[in-house]
Amino acid sequence: MDSFVIEGGRPLRGTLRVNGSKNAALPILIATLLTDEPCDVANVPSLRDIRTTFRLLENLGKKVVYDGRVARVMARGRLETWAPYEIVKQMRASVLVAGPLLGRFGLVRVPIPGGCAIGMRPIDIHIEGFKALGAKEESDRGDVVLRAPAGLQGGRVKLRLPSVGATENLMMAACFASGSTVISNAAREPEIADLGTFLGRMGVVVEGAGSPTVVVRGASRPAGAEHSVMPDRIEAGTFLIAAAATGGRLRLEGIGLEHLESVVAGLKAAGASVRECQGGLELVMRSRPKAVSITTAPHPGFPTDLQAPWMSLMCLSTGTSLISETVFENRFLHAAELVRMGAAIKVAGSKARITGRPRLNGAPIMASDIRGGAALVVAALAAQGKTVLQRIYHIERGYEGLEGRLRGVGGRIRRVPA
Ligand code: EPZ
Repeated sequence: MDSFVIEGGRPLRGTLRVNGSKNAALPILIATLLTDEPCDVANVPSLRDIRTTFRLLENLGKKVVYDGRVARVMARGRLETWAPYEIVKQMRASVLVAGPLLGRFGLVRVPIPGGCAIGMRPIDIHIEGFKALGAKEESDRGDVVLRAPAGLQGGRVKLRLPSVGATENLMMAACFASGSTVISNAAREPEIADLGTFLGRMGVVVEGAGSPTVVVRGASRPAGAEHSVMPDRIEAGTFLIAAAATGGRLRLEGIGLEHLESVVAGLKAAGASVRECQGGLELVMRSRPKAVSITTAPHPGFPTDLQAPWMSLMCLSTGTSLISETVFENRFLHAAELVRMGAAIKVAGSKARITGRPRLNGAPIMASDIRGGAALVVAALAAQGKTVLQRIYHIERGYEGLEGRLRGVGGRIRRVPA
């Protein structure tokens, strides 16, 4: 297991290009199961979760050709309707195959993903939604089996919570349903709008993707399509926060303020100057950050995926801030590692109180999930001295070539093989 060795205390300065969004690419690649025609998906980041998705698609009967940016997904033969546990247990987003396969074939069998480091993450909202469209559910040896032999019927589905995955799964299932499906209390994340655009290019009529009510006209025959995945707002937010934590000046190419409003508002309140410039964004941070409290919430609220990096920034602030995590029940695993670096953090349930300190110190620490791991990189870049960060495979699920890109903007970070 490789580690990162980071010598901190140097401001990030320079330009970085933002990659395609992992969380938009995953459902879009999975949506290719809706057709036998070839689909070309561009701006696909080269990440572990993306390679896992390719394996999942290939296991189900697709052929994938990937040149490092564009993925061409083609038919190879008849599609399977049983997702393998070996893959689902590595990547929970694999449950998104349920929607397209159930919709298209009236049958799917998917292992129920177990909990993960950040929470239990049940899939009850997905299943309730499929049932509202006429599917019958049974469980068998850890798998959920969904059947709709006569096909799904369009209808009204009101989600208990605006779940991102459930909204995506139901949008894909609804493509083949008879009649229209109206999903209310839908998640509004921009990645859902990107999936809606891709489905539209496949010939499916989708209205309102990215708003609380999504309407999918059923009985469509999705065709092959081309699409370029939206930029990764979480990667961009992580880089902006890292630049702020190190007192740097960073230009991000390939992303605008759109989709980053809540994070940029927080950065400005913390004292950063952030502005749109040609083809991107620029952040300049000239002082220690001010303390800014945040509460995570579904989009357009402060993204839970940037809560951990935000905590790293607040560890260096001039005051006391509060972080409330309302989306996942156990997303503070990074806090104990930050404390090892000298941070003053008290966690109580879903709230963390952070008293800013003038400095953090490098230490041996460990990543336990994608974004928590990225937060530790942010802290280590800002800290005095050397940090050895272990279990970086978590980070590699979501950030491509992180060490090389950070080195390009002045970060002293290298990978050390186990
Ligand atoms: C997506 O996960 C993202 N993953 C997550 O990013 C992100 O943190 C999350 O949305 C919230 O923004 C992908 O897009 C692949 P949810 P998802 O369903 O779809 C509860 C990252 O770091 N819930 O919106 O799984 C659930 O437990 C990852 O890139 C139910 O109770 O998130 C959670 O508390 C981590 N029942 C809340 O809803 C359900 O059936 C939000 O989950 C579904 C969800």
